[in-house]
Amino acid sequence: TRVLVLNGPNLGRLGSREPEVYGSATHADLVAAVADWAAERGLEAEVRQTDDESQLVGWLHEAVDTRSDVVLNPAAFTHYSYALRDAAAQVTSAGLRLVEVHLTNPYARESFRHLSVIGPVATGTVAGFGLDSYRLALAAL
Ligand code: DQA
Repeated sequence: TRVLVLNGPNLGRLGSREPEVYGSATHADLVAAVADWAAERGLEAEVRQTDDESQLVGWLHEAVDTRSDVVLNPAAFTHYSYALRDAAAQVTSAGLRLVEVHLTNPYARESFRHLSVIGPVATGTVAGFGLDSYRLALAAL
């Protein structure tokens, strides 16, 4: 199974970004951990990160065209990007699976993080387990 693991804005800053919130693991650590977890499960995973909304939309279109499942951490776009939601909806509507992941538990944080516009079109959501959120998402796939 092919899986695109897509990380949104500011996740490239992991390790130095608010470590008290997001921990000390870097994005490179995330890439390495996902590679190990995917290999254990016989998944073909590719991790990408961008701060750019249109790039994420394009990658979701690519997932549809290449019949790839998706693990998506939309970061702040989670809370307000209808463009990303509409792109995510095409993935699940095509019969592919899309797991929304978050390192933190958005419901335990500021109220603007309590709404996910992605959640309703995702196959499921894993949030609050740090890097393990990705491991659990891959296990689900
Ligand atoms: C996040 C949670 C979002 O609210 C935030 O904007 C992020 C990261 C997480 O992984 O916990 O950038 O998606």
